Amino acid sequence: MKKKLSISLLPGDGIGQEISVEAKKILNWIDQNTELELDCFEELVGGASIDKHQTPLHDKTLEKIKRSDAIILGAVGGPKWEKLPFELRPERGLLKIRKELDLFANFRPAIVFDSLINSSSLKPTIIKNLDLLIIRELTGGIYFGEPRGIEKINEKISKGFNTLVYTTPEIERIAKVAFEAARQRGKKLCSVDKANVLESTELWREIVISTGKKFPDVQLSHMYVDNASMQLVRNPKQFDVIVTTNMFGDILSDCASMLTGSLGMLPSASIGYDNSGNKKAMYEPVHGSAPDISGKGVANPLAMILSVGMMFKYSFSRGDISGLISKVVNSILEKGYRTKDINDQNCKEVSTSEMGDLVLKELKNEKI
Ligand code: IPM
Ligand code: MG
Repeated sequence: MKKKLSISLLPGDGIGQEISVEAKKILNWIDQNTELELDCFEELVGGASIDKHQTPLHDKTLEKIKRSDAIILGAVGGPKWEKLPFELRPERGLLKIRKELDLFANFRPAIVFDSLINSSSLKPTIIKNLDLLIIRELTGGIYFGEPRGIEKINEKISKGFNTLVYTTPEIERIAKVAFEAARQRGKKLCSVDKANVLESTELWREIVISTGKKFPDVQLSHMYVDNASMQLVRNPKQFDVIVTTNMFGDILSDCASMLTGSLGMLPSASIGYDNSGNKKAMYEPVHGSAPDISGKGVANPLAMILSVGMMFKYSFSRGDISGLISKVVNSILEKGYRTKDINDQNCKEVSTSEMGDLVLKELKNEKI
């Protein structure tokens, strides 16, 4: 009998729509060619949901996706909704899913495919064979800290403020996830903070050190975020796993994406656990909705397709399927096919849907 899995697909806005079409091609193929039965249903989030329901995430959508086995999200946001009040903006929909499902651990791997080595703005020697994992805390820190807001001080002056706050349990759980991930890889963990200036990250450092006592086999180091951003472009291969706060992780992961050649190549997984200890997860590309190129058929669907791959590994313990997806992506790149963002002179430029079709064609040659 086939094993049934329900998957929420939330295309969102901008290029999120286009790359989701390509993700569906891959999901359909897996549904038809494995013993897994993938029951995929689509829902609205972000601007798409605002247009229909006047809210970036409808309560019914939240309830429905909470019950699914995994969530795949394209991207949210765009100029059309930028002027809306803060709570109604597309990004609030995404942040609400992360918070409501308590998806506190965000995995953002940055892997350099050999064939893309010339797409990066860095020298090949700096990035060759790079395989780095950024683990970003996703449900705390300055993104969610209270108090926050914009207040009027007097007629002329207003004050905008946010709070960077972390508690012991919040730091402990992300540190534990990071140590465990490092243990499975190169056994090196670098914790990035700003402990010389910010008390919340002084506590972060203290708790990471104490959590590390249970992981004596993992080599722990610490770095201030300003130095870490510099080291990421100077010598990224010194890192194996980086663990950091919500906002520092947001910034450093965009930076790391360019080591790989394009933001269009980076998948991510956001993971948490419900009260019974069952894993909950959402998978999404690290890039945004790219309104400037949306609707043109030029977006790179590979970060989205690799996010589908991550889902099979992290949610369904099917490392074989995620390995296959990575292998197929690698082989297409080796053959010289590129979307616009990663193209160079000697390569064949393909559209979003052509890239999806190539992945599908290559998958058809594989045994699962
Ligand atoms: C990301 C994005 C989001 C974030 C935005 C869209 C809210 O930049 O996933 O990195 O800041 O977390
Ligand atoms: Mg970001």
